[in-house]
Amino acid sequence: MSKTKIAPSLLAADFGNLQRDVEMVNNSDADWHHIDVMDGVFVPNISYGMPVVKAIARYATKPLDVHLMIIEPDRYIKTFAELGARILSVHYEACNHLHRTLQAIKAEGMQAGVALNPHTNINLLEDTIQDIDLVCLMSVNPGFGGQSFIENTYEKVKALKTLIDKKGASTLIEIDGGVTSKNANQLKNAGADVLVAGSFVFKSDDPTNTIKELKEIAG
Ligand code: DX5
Ligand code: ZN
Repeated sequence: MSKTKIAPSLLAADFGNLQRDVEMVNNSDADWHHIDVMDGVFVPNISYGMPVVKAIARYATKPLDVHLMIIEPDRYIKTFAELGARILSVHYEACNHLHRTLQAIKAEGMQAGVALNPHTNINLLEDTIQDIDLVCLMSVNPGFGGQSFIENTYEKVKALKTLIDKKGASTLIEIDGGVTSKNANQLKNAGADVLVAGSFVFKSDDPTNTIKELKEIAG
């Protein structure tokens, strides 16, 4: 079994010291930079847009894992490819033609991700799972960092893993929201491949060490 990837969410970074925080991730045991883009429509919050993603990309040395919490994501696929996104995740709930959106992301040379809100059943991906490189299971309602982990997520991870195996797909399972050293191991055991962590990393006294700790706990 390959090691669980850790993707610190820059939403919890100090934006006055963004270069410093991106470089901290560069020099840590983290695998990806997780970038949360919110539009104030799909979610009740606005995070940051293209100029900030461009600034992150200028300093980041690890793959950019971009999580779009926006309506009509198709309008911006090309832009995020140009900004250097390696993985681009759109929300299932924001796509009328998910299959077409996934193909459009891949046509731009990126890996295609689909994020599911806590209320969205994983079986809705039954007909598209083979086209999906990564499923981002939201373990909080999207829009804000620092929320409590929803315990039902463990069951969703297991069910999704079963679906992926049944379909012979190689989709990665990412967990986003409320990840800490308390749930990391159980998530890995349930079948998670990637753990996103915002507050737990950036609000800790030693973020580099916290990333290392998460990496070790999640094996
Ligand atoms: C929530 C975002 C998450 C968030 C995670 O809408 O998608 O990536 O930053 O933050 P924590 O780890 O603080 O829950
Ligand atoms: Zn996210």
